[in-house]
Amino acid sequence: MRILKNLFDSNRSWAERIKESDPEFFVKLSRQQNPEYLWIGCSDSRVPSNQIVDLLPGEIFVHRNIANVVIHTDLNCLSVIQYAVDVLKVKHIIVCGHYGCGGIKAAMEKKTFGLIDTWLRHIMDVYRHHQERLDAIADETERLNLLCELNVIEQVANVCHTPIVQKAWESGQELTVHGWIYSIEDGILKDLNACVTSADEISETYRVKL
Ligand code: CO
Repeated sequence: MRILKNLFDSNRSWAERIKESDPEFFVKLSRQQNPEYLWIGCSDSRVPSNQIVDLLPGEIFVHRNIANVVIHTDLNCLSVIQYAVDVLKVKHIIVCGHYGCGGIKAAMEKKTFGLIDTWLRHIMDVYRHHQERLDAIADETERLNLLCELNVIEQVANVCHTPIVQKAWESGQELTVHGWIYSIEDGILKDLNACVTSADEISETYRVKL
C-alpha cells in the first residue's frame, strides 16, 4: 500500500475535532511552542507521552528511545535536552519508564536481536550496579519490574550529570528532574521519588566545575 488513507482520514477528523473546541488552536500553536515539560520515555507504542498525561500538542517536548536511556555520548538525546533546557526553558524533565519494558526484558534475558543489543548493554550496566538486590528476587516479573524502576532512577542521574542541566542550575534556572514509571496494565503513572532540583543532590563525582 503506497498511501495510508486511513491515517490521513483520521488526521482530518482529529484536526476538525480540535478546531471545533478551539478554532484558533493551530494558528496559535504555529506561532510558538512553549512547553513546560521535557519527556524522556520509551519508544513503546503503548506509552504515548501526551495521551498519558492528557496534554495537547505544544505542551510536552518529547524524546523517546528504546528503554528510555540517557547515554552520556548520545548526541540525539543530548541535543534534545540542550534545546529544551537552554532555548525552550522547560521547568521539568520527566524520565518515564514503564513496567514490562521489552527492551529491559531483552537485556535481562540476554536475548540477541541485532544492533539493539549494543544499546541494551547500558541496561546491563544498571543490572550490574544492583546485581545483589535483583538476583535476590526469584519472581521474574518482579525482578524485571524492579529493573525498570532502577533504570529510570539511573537515567534521572544521567540527566543530572550532563553539563547542560548543571549549567542551568548554576545560572539559577528553575529545573526539576523527575523519575516516573507507567503501568501499561492500568494506565496509571507512579512517581518514583527520584526527583532532583539542584546540583547539591548529585554525586560529587559528576559535579561539573562551572
Ligand atoms: Co519499553
